[in-house]
Amino acid sequence: MSQAKITIEIIQKMKLDGQPIAALTAYDFAMARLLDEAGIPLLLVGDSVGMVVLGYPDTTHVTMAEMLHHVRAAARAQTRALLGADLPFRSYQTPAQAMNNARALVEAGAGFVKAEGGAEILPQIKAIISEGIPFCAHLGMLPQHVLEEGGYKIKGKKEEEHLRLLQDARMLDEAGVFAIILELVTPNVAREIAHEVSVPVIGIGSGPHCDGQILVTQDLIGGFPWFTPGFVKPRAQCAALAVSAIHAWKASLSVPGGASSVVS
Ligand code: KIV
Repeated sequence: MSQAKITIEIIQKMKLDGQPIAALTAYDFAMARLLDEAGIPLLLVGDSVGMVVLGYPDTTHVTMAEMLHHVRAAARAQTRALLGADLPFRSYQTPAQAMNNARALVEAGAGFVKAEGGAEILPQIKAIISEGIPFCAHLGMLPQHVLEEGGYKIKGKKEEEHLRLLQDARMLDEAGVFAIILELVTPNVAREIAHEVSVPVIGIGSGPHCDGQILVTQDLIGGFPWFTPGFVKPRAQCAALAVSAIHAWKASLSVPGGASSVVS
């Protein structure tokens, strides 16, 4: 018997029940299905697809068309997990644009959308929520701003950053976001925010005190060996396993009558 779909309410109840929320990225049918079968309740078609699948140097190159393509692929897995999608760089510059693009992601199969920022994108967030589309916020280090910021820097060390993060998190909670992702925030500030807001706070590189954790799946399984963020401990070496299987298969090849085909 198939189990009931994971809903926003179930994810939010996990915080109240003190159950850690495990979230991972999925950009295609196979990974969405595998993660679903492994019991991961929250999946994200992140714009990290730009780096780990599409070969861009950062997420600022990802387009709406690319996001839609990957959301459709992941959604075909018809997961029990709640599947969401990122609004890519410059796809939510006005409330109307944010609403239209959020609607397109939902039509492609997303059960919620996420965008990066706090007070500066509040009108866009309100427009999306007013359409009845569940919204997940993203605060802390904002990868779509990596070029202006000059790198992936930890947030919350300075008092003004700490206060701004807290203020943004409270404001987003009041605005009706269903969860907040905190990226590269100091563990103490992340803990304070998770305690302050009613919605689940899901960390990435923000210490152990959040209500849940999200990772780029390739980082967790060693699927993208050219770069792994320092805060991730890979639990497998999938790229190395693939290379060794490829070598073994290549070494097993022979051509009838060729040098390696010995007929006695
Ligand atoms: O793009 C992404 O994968 C994300 C993360 C929070 C994992 O935004």
